[in-house]
Amino acid sequence: MTKTLHLGQTLTFTGDPFTQGPAAATHSSRGAVLVEAGRVVAAGEADALRAQHGEAEVIDHGAGLILPGFVDAHMHYPQTAMIASWGKRLIDWLNSYTFPEEGKFADRAYADEIAKRTLDLAISNGTTTLTSFCTIHPGSVDAFFEAAEARGMAAFAGKTCMDRNAPDYLSDTAQSAHDDSKALIERWHGKGRATYVITPRFSPTSTPEQLEALGALWAANPSCLMQTHLSEQVDEIEWVSGLYPEARDYLDTYEQHGLLGARGLYGHAIHLEPRETDRLREVGAGLVHCPTSNTFIGSGLFDMAARMAEGQRIGLASDTGGGSSFSMLRVMGAAYEIGQLKRNPIHPAQLLWLATEGSAKVLHAEGEIGRLAPGSMADMIVLDLASTPGIAQRSALASDIWEALFPTIMMGDDRAIAKTYVAGRQVKG
Ligand code: GUN
Ligand code: ZN
Repeated sequence: MTKTLHLGQTLTFTGDPFTQGPAAATHSSRGAVLVEAGRVVAAGEADALRAQHGEAEVIDHGAGLILPGFVDAHMHYPQTAMIASWGKRLIDWLNSYTFPEEGKFADRAYADEIAKRTLDLAISNGTTTLTSFCTIHPGSVDAFFEAAEARGMAAFAGKTCMDRNAPDYLSDTAQSAHDDSKALIERWHGKGRATYVITPRFSPTSTPEQLEALGALWAANPSCLMQTHLSEQVDEIEWVSGLYPEARDYLDTYEQHGLLGARGLYGHAIHLEPRETDRLREVGAGLVHCPTSNTFIGSGLFDMAARMAEGQRIGLASDTGGGSSFSMLRVMGAAYEIGQLKRNPIHPAQLLWLATEGSAKVLHAEGEIGRLAPGSMADMIVLDLASTPGIAQRSALASDIWEALFPTIMMGDDRAIAKTYVAGRQVKG
């Protein structure tokens, strides 16, 4: 089997930068990553790895920074075509723009087209793993997993379930949501790089009976993940308390129906009560921060510092098309800006960690993705730290790797992604 030795700058995490600071990462200005059969065999200093593996084919990326591909822990591939739709807040935005677009996915050919388009946009932006809501149509899930499989990408996705407060053309039932999701689990979960994610959209669009049926399905398939939305906008929370008068709070609408667990992914999770943060931490649930979406739809400011201090498990996500960018660089930049508004600037080491290992951890896929360490998949990117004149003139003055990287986090886009590799195979550049 051929070995390939990638030379360039490398940044690897040996710990968590939220507890250890930037010292949790090791930077090598002449580093190397050795890849064989789609996996990382070793990462370290170029000279040492060259001496040990003289037989390996060498690819020299020069000053390019070799990183794990970005891991997007929450997005909606069916919303790709309606990204950047103007002027609405969450509920009106769903009704005006989102539901009509999602209705088009009854057509399998349209689902295929948008799935391919979304994954190609992801690759171009250096995102090698997407976690996606699909639509209520099982074919939309097949389209997404098939397109990911064709590209060799890890994919996390599930059929979005809705049996109330949605148009008829986008409504299933408690029973059909359960049965369709079960059939999709049998078809896709654990096949190649696919992981099935049980997907009730959010409490307002499910009856208690549907949440109960999906909770039972999760209990029967505990290796699946579960994804939903939690406490994104204040109006939404009021709506939930009217729909579920018995519930103690929004999280309780999930908890009462078997939909709270360590393998649960709770998108947004902005406006939380103390009981909710306590329960999320106790069970080790995944909170997914969607900063570009939270500003675009006007949802609110996620308190990263408070949630990290509590010991929550947190990932980062684009939430397209509520999020206004396909670039996880832009998502990191927005996370930084929200941190500033909360008077807690997030260090570039922490931003990078959230977009790679942090997201991999909420997906329970650390070790496999989100890190360039022996044994992990060789899903990687080469970042150009001088991709535009404005970025180049700032990074030229940098005195360390963080100062060199930060202008790309704040100002970079797909032009900064010089190359993308999926399972060791070059797919961009
Ligand atoms: N809440 C329920 N559905 C959605 C969605 O599609 N996008 C966002 N941002 N929030 C939601
Ligand atoms: Zn979402």
